[in-house]
Amino acid sequence: MRLTAVIAILSAVLGIGSATQWWESGNYYQIYPRSFRDSDGDGIGDLNGVTEKLQYLKDIGFTATWLSPIFKSPMVDFGYDIADFYQIHPEYGTMEDFERLIAHAKEVGIRIILDFVPNHSSDQSEWFLKSVDGDPVYKDYYIWHDGKINEETGEREPPNNWVSEFRYSAWEWNEVRQQYYLHQFATAQPDLNYRNPAVVAEMKNVLKFWLGKGVAGFRIDAIPYLFEVDLDRYNQYPDEPLSNDPSCPDPDDHCYTQHIYTQDQPETVDMIYQWRELVDEFHQQHGGDPRVLMTEAYTSFENIMKFYGDGIRNGSHIPFNFDFLSNINNASKATEYVEHIEKWMNAMPKGVYANWVLGNHDNKRVASRFGVQRIDLINILLQTLPGHAVTYNGEELGMTDVYISWEDTVDPSACNSDPEHYYERSRDPARTPYQWDASSMAGFTSGDYTWLPVSDEYKTNNALQQLRAPQSHLKIFKTLVRVRQEPSFRTGELKIQALDDDVLVYSRLKQGSDIYVIVLNLGETEKNIDLTKYFNVGAEAEIITSSLQSQYINGDTVKTSSFVAKGNVGTVLVGIN
Ligand code: GLC
Ligand code: MG
Ligand code: CA
Repeated sequence: MRLTAVIAILSAVLGIGSATQWWESGNYYQIYPRSFRDSDGDGIGDLNGVTEKLQYLKDIGFTATWLSPIFKSPMVDFGYDIADFYQIHPEYGTMEDFERLIAHAKEVGIRIILDFVPNHSSDQSEWFLKSVDGDPVYKDYYIWHDGKINEETGEREPPNNWVSEFRYSAWEWNEVRQQYYLHQFATAQPDLNYRNPAVVAEMKNVLKFWLGKGVAGFRIDAIPYLFEVDLDRYNQYPDEPLSNDPSCPDPDDHCYTQHIYTQDQPETVDMIYQWRELVDEFHQQHGGDPRVLMTEAYTSFENIMKFYGDGIRNGSHIPFNFDFLSNINNASKATEYVEHIEKWMNAMPKGVYANWVLGNHDNKRVASRFGVQRIDLINILLQTLPGHAVTYNGEELGMTDVYISWEDTVDPSACNSDPEHYYERSRDPARTPYQWDASSMAGFTSGDYTWLPVSDEYKTNNALQQLRAPQSHLKIFKTLVRVRQEPSFRTGELKIQALDDDVLVYSRLKQGSDIYVIVLNLGETEKNIDLTKYFNVGAEAEIITSSLQSQYINGDTVKTSSFVAKGNVGTVLVGIN
């Protein structure tokens, strides 16, 4: 019998609980509600659809799910343009549906985390409409400016050269107010003014409102853009310096300038700490598990580390680690994986946990970025590293990007581009309906329309088929999630090493527990590896799981001195005592 099995029986008998809480080694699942499950046949996913599928998430072994925005929205940026932060978007359901979702999630044992979008509202928000009208309460809720007069032409122009994430000037003229407003994203997403204490207070109310409804925490959107440089320090908002990047020659593109005045202002970190105080206070007052914060920021490593806390104040529990999205790609060598993983592990402040994000609704899918043949290998990596794992819906099935023509593209980021360049900007390919089964529309909807097309692959690649097959990406994923509960994964040490350009090996070990060895062959060629050279592992090991195309079957015994790793295959082994 393996050591952990003995310990598991002993702890069950003695009633010893595990040392870590769910949120300390959480398995998080991102649901894109519009595309997850449509319960009423209108071709658009909804809350009742999510409720229906919570047991499915539980069966896989997820501990929590974060939902992309579900609030009332004109859907210019598919929910990231919020018209009412206190209401459910009608296409997604009602407040009662939301309350049922929370109640059912409690029964099932899945925590619900909501997306908090603090940087901007919709231009249809009552706040914005009142701000346009100069209402004394809302007048300064947004960032307004007269612009400047061009000395040569005598015409009015935006105050400066700031560019929106979605291309073109970040300033939009408003006829009624006769001023420009700032929008770092779409024109329909005016930036809120965080230098106005009333805005800060209002957004804290939003957090309290949803905490009161029973949510387990928030994923906080677009952190770097919260604050702009303080106007009081200058008479005019200053131009941003040019990036002079030859790969970005178009002045309308966001990359044309360096965003020193519109991103990562020092006040941002303090705002995160304030939000952390708020959720901690709520926890103290209401009990239960701690409420968690996850922060979305594509920013410098140094900034992300600050989001954790500064030693005195705490910040985000999970400052998203986007290394596998932004810094590691198809061509990355094993050494680069090691560098990024170790960098994070070594820089983290004491008392916090690492996290790893594989994919999300803003990026191309994992199977499309790394190749379908590597989907299991990458999922193995995610589930066997220390800390939190964050999975975007569909990656557990190895869903791939769906090609969407320029005519059918709906993502504002891509629509602001042109037929030649839109595809690299488009987020639609990763947002298509979840593939539940082989029935028409992949079991996503009972209707004959879906808001984005269903993948052609749904007949052969869907959840039901993968649950029934003897082995599948999903089954491998489930095995990983289960083994992750073992002490060596929960609190064990990580010892990691690149053997050459292709092979990454590491162990997870908690003293007194089983040793797990993970072998990832990123290359195409088969390798024969003497694992005993690197790890204190016995002569034989058992296969916990291995990629779909591997020669191994779960439970196989192998010789550790000559372990055969096929190309693109990842394997998890456990030492046999
Ligand atoms: C975040 C979201 C993205 C959205 C943007 C503006 O990056 O993930 O989908 O478009 O913020 O809210
Ligand atoms: Mg629906
Ligand atoms: Ca802002």
